[in-house]
Amino acid sequence: MSVLRSQVEGWGGYLPERVLSNEDLARMVDTSDSWIVERTGVRQRHIAAPGEYTSHLAIHAAEAALATAGASADEIDLIVLATSTPDNTFPATATKVQAGLGVTHGAAFDVQAVCTGFVYALAIADNFIKAGQFKCALVIGAETFSRILDWTDRSTCVLFGDGAGALLLRAANTSGGNDARGVLSTHLHSDGRQHDLLFVDGGPSSTQTVGHLRMSGRDVFRRAVGLLAEAVEEALAANGLSASDIDWLAPHQANKRILDATARKVGVPEHKVVCTVDRHANTSAASIPLALAEAAGDGRIQPGHLVVLEGMGGGFTWGSAVIRW
Ligand code: UT7
Repeated sequence: MSVLRSQVEGWGGYLPERVLSNEDLARMVDTSDSWIVERTGVRQRHIAAPGEYTSHLAIHAAEAALATAGASADEIDLIVLATSTPDNTFPATATKVQAGLGVTHGAAFDVQAVCTGFVYALAIADNFIKAGQFKCALVIGAETFSRILDWTDRSTCVLFGDGAGALLLRAANTSGGNDARGVLSTHLHSDGRQHDLLFVDGGPSSTQTVGHLRMSGRDVFRRAVGLLAEAVEEALAANGLSASDIDWLAPHQANKRILDATARKVGVPEHKVVCTVDRHANTSAASIPLALAEAAGDGRIQPGHLVVLEGMGGGFTWGSAVIRW
């Protein structure tokens, strides 16, 4: 029996040109390179230029994904873009990406699940493809978090950066086993009671302003490792797999300590964890596809590898995905 599955054909990432180092930040707020490196693992982040929007970053990443897939834009019939920093309140930034790529058919929309956004977007695209409604999807995570940071708040402004990453998925008939290429599973969760631990204090309906990111970092940290490890274990169990089957763990890049502790808890050795947080910082929905683009681009992730994604963020939202690359 043949089973329809979403296979990864292309990947791409884009980072804005400007790099902001920890030393640069230490001239802006009361912090130090050693505090930031020790507590987070972050050494630098990229910051979008004035006039450079989330859609621009997303279009670069999407073009790179089309290029690695050897696909043309008119093959795309679905664009799902995860972002919490859209160009405008509406329309969806995905529609600007669609126009920027010259795609004039199919559907394009945004998904908002903060740092879990890419896992949510992947789950949506995958389910549409499995249902037979779309055949070729761009799944994008793109953010300009620099635009919603309070640059006087040292407890948050040192943590985030801007960037975009994309995967190109195409429908394919497979045997359906866990060794057959494609997205094997996605698991999504949320708990709205945790709103106040990580949120933006503005919005069109509440304040009519964009607002700034607010986070109780210590409380988020305390919950993160447990939720992420559970999400990975849930994903492995659903596929009849164990931690030793994982070739690459591609986590949301919030904090090196969270990456390390989660990998330890699920039993994945450090050399199998894709880590970009040192150079990109936390790019929210963009961090997982940026990590995938880097590791697939430099040849670490190979066709047939088992790749597990996991993320957690505001809401709270959290989730995981398993891909046979
Ligand atoms: O992506 C979405 C999910 N987000 C996350 O997963 C982030 C989760 N949280 C974290 O990564 C960590 O909690 C932080 C990196 C945000 C903070 O690390 P921490 O080890 O939890 O530090 P803390 O919040 O307990 O703060 C320790 C101290 C405090 O001083 P006191 O109260 O002990 O005197 C802070 O005021 O460090 C101080 N501090 C800083 N010092 C220098 C906070 N930010 C800074 C800073 N530079 N940038």
